[in-house]
This record gives sequence, C-alpha cells and structure tokens, in this order.
Amino acid sequence: MRFDILTIFPDMFAALTRFGIVGQAVKGGKIEINVVNIRDFSDKPHFMTDDRPYGGGEGMVMKPEPIVRALQSIPKVPGNRKVILLTPQGQLLEQSLARSLGTLAQLILVCGRYEGVDERIRSRYVDMEVSIGDYILTGGEIPAMVIVDAVSRLVPGVLGSERSALEESFEDSLLEYPQYTRPPIFQGESVPSILLSGDHGKIRIWRRTQSLQKTLERRPDLLKRASLSEEDRAILEELKQRPSTSATTAGRSKSHDTNDLDGLA
Ligand code: ADE
Repeated sequence: MRFDILTIFPDMFAALTRFGIVGQAVKGGKIEINVVNIRDFSDKPHFMTDDRPYGGGEGMVMKPEPIVRALQSIPKVPGNRKVILLTPQGQLLEQSLARSLGTLAQLILVCGRYEGVDERIRSRYVDMEVSIGDYILTGGEIPAMVIVDAVSRLVPGVLGSERSALEESFEDSLLEYPQYTRPPIFQGESVPSILLSGDHGKIRIWRRTQSLQKTLERRPDLLKRASLSEEDRAILEELKQRPSTSATTAGRSKSHDTNDLDGLA
C-alpha cells in the first residue's frame, strides 16, 4: 500500500517513517510513504502557500494552486485510491474506517494548516474528509500520522502473525483485558494467581470477563456493536449484578492513593 502525504512540514513525518513497526514496514517494503512538500509547488515569493481569507477575518487560508500541483505530481498506482483531507469537520476515524481504508492501493492525505484549505480543494479534489476526534489541533499532520499508523498495521505482513491474532480480538469491539509480566509481585501488588495457574481454560474466561467488565464500566456504548456469545451474555449479566471490583478500577484508585512517582527513583 502506498501513502502520499501533502504537507508544509515534511520533516514531522520522520517520527513515523524512522521508528517502530511503521518504520520497519517502510524498510521492508510492505508499505510506501511518500511525503510531498506543498511549498515546492508554490510559484510565489518565499514559497508562500497561504493567503488572507476573502470576506475578511482572522488567520490565513491555504491557497489552492500549490496543493493542486502537488496532487498532480503524485504517481498513480494500479488499484483504488482516495484523496483524504484531514479536518475536524470530517468523518470520525474509527477502526472500521481504518479497515476499509486498508483495502485501498493508494491513500493521499492532505494536511491543512491555519484556518483550513481553500474550499475548492475540498469540493473538486477531495474524496473524503476525516477527523481523528472532537478537538482542534494546529494542523492535519498528526491526524495524517494517526491514519497511516492505524491503516498500516492492518496491511498484511506489517504485524507478525502473533499480533494479527490480537488484532482479531479487537474486531469484536471490546476493550483489552489487563496484561502482566514479571516480576510476579511489584510494589506489593501480585499478578492475579489465575494467570500463573497454567489452566488455559480458566485464563481465557478470566480475560474475557475482564474485557467485558472494563468495556461495561468505561465504554458501554461499545457493547451494543460487540459480537457477543451466549457465554459473554451470561458473564455480562453476572457482572451487572455485582459491585465494581475490576482489576482496572481497583488498580486505578489504588495508584491515586499510594503511588508516589518520586519513589521510582
Ligand atoms: N486538523 C485539526 N484538528 C483536526 C482533527 N481533530 N482531526 C483531523 N484534522 C484536524
């Protein structure tokens, strides 16, 4: 899969292309990330890419011509492609959208800055507008990185087979169960004994119960679209009867009471 990113801050994308799983995917040729500097397509003095808004008002608007020239410079790859504008006015990014974007051959991401881009870019060149959440950032670069990250990890071969299986567990819209590693006792808090028991049947049910409980407490809205088995429904019914005792809730209040970060030194 190929990502083309139009931005006036190309250097920001080193954070994505040089590190971690996405960086490895680029090096391994699983994905291609092409960052295009919109300034290179300005024909104005000082490589200007913005101008004052017609009608007056605060701030600057990104000019259409450099963006169009930048778009035209991008080679087409065979298969489906989409041009996405990052904007708080767009469709909210969710896992389901990441999944459908992951089926494309090419994704072109246009990063706005200032008060936004000239409306004629949106109306004539953009297939879809996407927001990463109901808050306003200073530009579309970080949202573009979020999309590339969320979509890349769904491209076959980017995650190892072990991790792909984990991904499937998110497919059912539940929050993850808590994870522990060594040491078995940390600052007086023990790993739940069931995880040390070696009883894989019990461990599976414990994890599923934790997932369901965490989702019920934090994101009950997700339960409506979750694919729940008969066993899940029975666990949920039981959880609804009992007072909240999840590891997450207990751990959180405890850390507020007793955790002194200075004590880490
Ligand atoms: N640009 C500024 N804020 C944004 C957001 N929340 N999502 C996408 N693009 C943005």
